[in-house]
Amino acid sequence: MNNTPKGIVISEDKGLYQKLSANLAPIVEITGRTPDIASGYKLAREANVDLVFLDLTDKAPDCINFAKRIKRVQPETEVFMVGSTRDPDLLLDGMRAGASDFLTYPFEEKAVIASVKDALDRGGNLSKGGEIVSVFSLKGGVGVTTIAINLASHVFDLTRDKVLLFDLNLFMGDISSYLNIETAYTPYDLLRDVERMDENLMFSSVDQHDAGFYVMTTPGEISDSDQVSPADILSMLGVLKKHFDYIIVDCPHDFSERTLKVCSFSDTVFVVTQQTIPTVKSVQKVIEFFRDMEFDPDKVQVIINRYLKDSTMEASDLEGVFQKKIFSKISNDYPLFAKISTKGETVNHGAEKHRINREYQAMAGDLTGISPASDGFWKQLFSGGLFR
Ligand SMILES: Nc1ncnc2c1ncn2[C@@H]1O[C@H](COP(=O)(O)OP(=O)(O)O)[C@@H](O)[C@H]1O
Ligand SMILES: [Mg+2]
Repeated sequence: MNNTPKGIVISEDKGLYQKLSANLAPIVEITGRTPDIASGYKLAREANVDLVFLDLTDKAPDCINFAKRIKRVQPETEVFMVGSTRDPDLLLDGMRAGASDFLTYPFEEKAVIASVKDALDRGGNLSKGGEIVSVFSLKGGVGVTTIAINLASHVFDLTRDKVLLFDLNLFMGDISSYLNIETAYTPYDLLRDVERMDENLMFSSVDQHDAGFYVMTTPGEISDSDQVSPADILSMLGVLKKHFDYIIVDCPHDFSERTLKVCSFSDTVFVVTQQTIPTVKSVQKVIEFFRDMEFDPDKVQVIINRYLKDSTMEASDLEGVFQKKIFSKISNDYPLFAKISTKGETVNHGAEKHRINREYQAMAGDLTGISPASDGFWKQLFSGGLFR
């Protein structure tokens, strides 16, 4: 019983406190309530509580400041916002401040338990385990999916670790058509199995591409992605991190709550640009936005895709605009991708000699810290070459 996480409620509303205590009784012990933020802060500090539930009614800005402060001094404390409507601006401010989630009052018992449980699991799960690498662009068609696929393939080549390519385009993803594979096990199946997932079930279910990395994507038909909440996404990532060393995420081109949660829990977010004004402008906005979200600047990295050496927009110009070093440049070669994707191949298994293959290899090397062996270390190893 002593291991039960403890929480407090900051609200003038006694009914809210009673309801929350009753709903959360199986997983959290609510040890007290205080009506105002100042005494709530003291209480949260003194008792070093695991959870704080903050009623936003009438004093949202103070609550956001409180969340920021408490997350700074007690980062492991989960802060939940409580309010009658899910105001998107408030939600965003709350996320920036480090709040775990927003609960709507009157409570829906199941949703409250799921959200709190996720936050508690995450504290344990999302901070350890495999590395999450997201590939993102607010504009479509710049090469996010292509980069996610080829990065996964190269990271596997360099590390031989368990690498998963995860398609967050739950509505309808492109990965299965680019890779020419029919995956049986989708993110929806994973969500259903989250509670009972173990090593056996994971690796007997999830599909593996011929190139060696694993793939989880939606079927090539439109699915009902609205059923999947941001909290669901996080519990999936929590489970995936336990079993995979790298999870490379092909993100949708939006700033939805789901995408933002994934980016905020990623170890690296690759933002993809091209050398065109609209794309550069959009990337600039994305970088600013991530800065506002207080993402660690080092985790946000820029890749130039379809790079043209003789463009009027040189890489150094872009570094000036983004105030960031360019992480990687991938040259432009449309026919190459058209060719390999009709065969469902990746650049390292279909265009080994191509410069784009070397560029991808260098990108994966910089990400993993493992530089490519000059003459195919793994090939030699597996053909027995190194032991002769
Ligand atoms: N380096 C590249 N050179 C030329 N064409 C590319 C390159 N990378 C991707 N493409 C092509 O650009 C198109 C869009 O890529 P895709 O990965 O689907 O973008 P997104 O996921 O951002 O919408 C595809 O036809 C793809 O083959
Ligand atoms: Mg895509």
